Amino acid sequence: MKKLKVMSVFGTRPEAIKMAPVVLELGKCAAVESIVAVTAQHREMLDQVLNLFDIRPNFDLNIMSEGQTLFDITSRALMGLDKVLSEAAPDVVLVHGDTTTTFAGALAAYYHQIEVGHVEAGLRTRNKFSPYPEEMNRRLTGALADLNFAPTETAKANLLREGCPAEKIFVTGNTVIDALYQTVRPDFKFADELSRVDFGKRIVLVTTHRRENLGEPMRQVYQALKAVVEDFPDVEIIFPVHKNPRVREVVAEELGNLDRVILIDPLDYEPFANLMNRATLILTDSGGVQEEAPALGKPVLVLRDTTERPEAVDAGTVKLIGTNRDVVYAATKELLTDDDAYRQMAEARSPYGDGHAAQRIVQALLWRHGILPERPTEFHG
Ligand code: UD1
Ligand code: UDP
Repeated sequence: MKKLKVMSVFGTRPEAIKMAPVVLELGKCAAVESIVAVTAQHREMLDQVLNLFDIRPNFDLNIMSEGQTLFDITSRALMGLDKVLSEAAPDVVLVHGDTTTTFAGALAAYYHQIEVGHVEAGLRTRNKFSPYPEEMNRRLTGALADLNFAPTETAKANLLREGCPAEKIFVTGNTVIDALYQTVRPDFKFADELSRVDFGKRIVLVTTHRRENLGEPMRQVYQALKAVVEDFPDVEIIFPVHKNPRVREVVAEELGNLDRVILIDPLDYEPFANLMNRATLILTDSGGVQEEAPALGKPVLVLRDTTERPEAVDAGTVKLIGTNRDVVYAATKELLTDDDAYRQMAEARSPYGDGHAAQRIVQALLWRHGILPERPTEFHG
């Protein structure tokens, strides 16, 4: 029997983490020929994930350049994928989430009239500039998708409201929970990069990278963090700093050379996930971290004004606090001083998945192509 040719296309760290479980699951399936094409919109941060999950791409466009613009990423990815799709001629292209690689991947597949499967479909803020450009990347990818793998019922409802037919939507849970469960271990040993960490202190873990936070908003967050370490001697901040030079510059100016502020390069996913598990509290503008931390029972303060992930806010495990210096300081202080407030957030239920999302995605693909007889059961959060 002819195998179903499935090409996974991704380019950044979070897409790689969230597509790795899908690629591994496709690899186990005898009915599928699994092909991986990376744009490498991120280079080092993508390679960290490929190495961890032992994924060797069949195609690597290597498009990243320092200070790349949205035009650079879109045009290089689109042109590169045109050739890759002509050569590999897959039956289905899978893209993930909301990056510019995601949109370019979906558009390239559409131009080749190849079926598009969108993993992590249906997330919305309904504000086209927040997050920018992710909100439009998601919506445009949704318009092109033939199969939508919605992580939650909320995401499915968003798609239905936009007129997407129900039979094209599968609620699967988020694959990031699959990746997390495969990675976090209570006995994990941290290597040299974290030798400076005093695990006897309360760890506040921080990440920032959103375009809309570059510059002044990030500066305000870092000033709040500086005040937190000054006021709480038992707190240590660990901050793996994104590779974007526009992030690194402001971090160095505001947080360089401070006691109990440990600035490090982006961590491999394994130490990072295990560090989340050891943290008291997490401050982030990341999407993925908002989904992972609740699964580990860690409160998250989200450094953004909008979120396309309302489930954890509703469950009470995540709080949306923006980037104002005084607000960030006050919200952090509250969780460091008020045990009840802390416990309420830490004990809330995680809404994002059960570790079997990748399996459901592959089963749904096989069912759509007549290889499995039954429509797979869905994730009920
Ligand atoms: C991108 C995505 C964003 C996603 C984020 C995850 C777009 C427009 N943005 O944002 O949706 O949340 O990735 O981190 O798709 N760099 C390196 N090495 C790396 C990675 C980045 O040097 O491994 C530097 C480069 O100078 C690059 C810059 O970071 O030009 C920005 O990277 P880019 O992919 O354009 O944007 P991100 O802010 O990372
Ligand atoms: N992450 C990582 N190393 C780090 C920081 C984050 O592996 O030093 C992981 C994190 O666990 C999550 C993903 O990277 O799975 C989130 O990526 P990012 O914040 O860059 O992007 P977003 O999720 O906002 O798109």
